[in-house]
Amino acid sequence: MKIVVLAGGRSTERNVSLSSSARVANALREKGHQVAVADLFLGLPGLSETELAHLFTDQQQTVDLNISDEILTDDAINAMRPGEGTQLFGPNVLKIAGMADIVYVGLHGEDGENGKVQAVLDLNNIAYTGSDTLGSGVAMDKSISKQIMMFNGIQTARFVAVREGDDRDVDLPFDFPVVVKPSNGGSSVGTYIVRQEDQLRPAIDDALQFDDEILIEEFIKGREFSLGVVNGVAMPAIEITVNDGWYDFEHKFQSDSTTVFQTPPDIPADVHAEMQAIAKRTMKVLKMSNYGRVDFFWNDDGLFVIEANSLPGMTPLSLLPQEAEAAGISYPDLCDSIVQGKVD
Ligand code: DAL
Ligand code: MG
Repeated sequence: MKIVVLAGGRSTERNVSLSSSARVANALREKGHQVAVADLFLGLPGLSETELAHLFTDQQQTVDLNISDEILTDDAINAMRPGEGTQLFGPNVLKIAGMADIVYVGLHGEDGENGKVQAVLDLNNIAYTGSDTLGSGVAMDKSISKQIMMFNGIQTARFVAVREGDDRDVDLPFDFPVVVKPSNGGSSVGTYIVRQEDQLRPAIDDALQFDDEILIEEFIKGREFSLGVVNGVAMPAIEITVNDGWYDFEHKFQSDSTTVFQTPPDIPADVHAEMQAIAKRTMKVLKMSNYGRVDFFWNDDGLFVIEANSLPGMTPLSLLPQEAEAAGISYPDLCDSIVQGKVD
């Protein structure tokens, strides 16, 4: 198949996306597909019609992905704002995507994960991997997705939402510590664990720089797990143990991280089965499809869903690929099954 991997974009998770996308592109090539990588933000500027025609046959003809696991600051993101006359989803990208049998959405965060790119692809009749416009938008918005979970009896941490313009001196209906995070974010960017009241306001102010709505969540103590679902099949869960701090951006993506992963985890079979069932149900009520990953905490009060990810990371340190490996599914086979799941 001819596949365009849509990468990068302008989000706090841009670098995570570049890492995921480069690895996915290589894996899909290994499976015999013709793959081109297009940066949603940069497009493929300057390619002539002849070069475009050879895009899928000349496999060197891809954008140079400058991959780094550094966290992108607000300033770095602002510096990437397109200049006059440039478009975020450039005509070149659409042209290339239109030449493919399917687009592999290798984006994370904001415009790539919230349904907007999916809507553009829908309107242009271009097939793509992952959840559709509605499922992507719902899963990306933690305030909305948690309310849907609660309505459906799926246990999730209690929360208070604060929007830009709201009173930031908030009375909480639960005790400290709490977690402050952007409602539409990922990879723990802009997320803070707040242990005492006088730290709450600064954390709210900081988190509101990443989104116009933030959540203050009850801190759930317990063991941390994550569980992916691919084409309706639940993977084995993975347990994440962080020995120095918590599973923040650095622990997620920096290669010298001391985070310990175990999949399948050492937990009772009935708890594992329940986690798999809840992950599938969460994806269903949030209208997600094709593949996704649901994050959990487990303690004496049971299983808590922290969030659902409609475009889970596919980097070397990411969770879903490790879970698939434990289920006997190699990384190239995982990427191929995600694509095949959307082809029929
Ligand atoms: N948002 C990151 C990429 C994840 O969920 O894996
Ligand atoms: Mg997430």
